[in-house]
Amino acid sequence: MSKIIVIKNNKGGVGKSWITLQLAHGLQHVSEKKVLVVTSDNQNNILEFSGMEKTISTSGLEKWLKTGTGDLIRLRENLYYIPLKVSHLNLTSKDKLEKLFEAFKEDYEYILIDSTPVIGIDKYFVDLADEFIIPGWADKVTINSITSLLEQVEIRKIKSVIINKWTKTAKEKEYYKGLKEVLDPHEILLTAPISQSATVGKLIDEGKTIWESNSKKVKDIQASFVEVIGEIL
Ligand SMILES: Nc1ncnc2c1ncn2[C@@H]1O[C@H](COP(=O)(O)OP(=O)(O)OP(=O)(O)O)[C@@H](O)[C@H]1O
Ligand SMILES: [Mg+2]
Repeated sequence: MSKIIVIKNNKGGVGKSWITLQLAHGLQHVSEKKVLVVTSDNQNNILEFSGMEKTISTSGLEKWLKTGTGDLIRLRENLYYIPLKVSHLNLTSKDKLEKLFEAFKEDYEYILIDSTPVIGIDKYFVDLADEFIIPGWADKVTINSITSLLEQVEIRKIKSVIINKWTKTAKEKEYYKGLKEVLDPHEILLTAPISQSATVGKLIDEGKTIWESNSKKVKDIQASFVEVIGEIL
């Protein structure tokens, strides 16, 4: 059965968009099924992360909602992206969004939603979610935003928390340990942290995903994503 997975954290810049793309590409590889990425954020960073021209899109999700069709950008084999052009989706009815996503579910096995840090804008997407993945940093503000998310969404829907941009400081280790203690009773996977890495920066510059790299440094990152994919499959 198809699933809608929302990658969510109300904190900006933690790696939501980058992680969404890595997960989507990884899921496509492992499952060999069709994967769709949708965004509630009109920065459309996923286009840059996958090496696509950002100017490519003319009509995104807003048009799909109005007419049932619109831009569909092929990122990789069996991996597609629907951009968002407007800053605020004018959702007059939740029904329309639900119907659209029901139609997507017929065509795609996994639908990943890259969310915006602006609270409220993606409320409708949160309601649609079958599962959540929560990226974050191991610092006080981000950990607080993760723990508050645990209260805002159905906890059984949270499949994994991914700590990103790890720099191995003593403070980060302390927050990571604390977070693990919060998540373990709920059996939520906390992956090995993903380092803040120049190799990732280079991949992003080249418009490549971690699955398109043979670098030894990327192997550890791939391993963390494989664990998350295991929770989703
Ligand atoms: N592990 C990493 N190592 C190095 N750079 C990273 C890593 N993860 C993400 N980045 C970079 O950090 C920046 C923020 O990532 P990203 O845009 O995915 O965050 P976001 O949570 O989607 O941000 P926003 O809240 O603005 O939507 C990007 O420029 C990305 O290239
Ligand atoms: Mg983003």
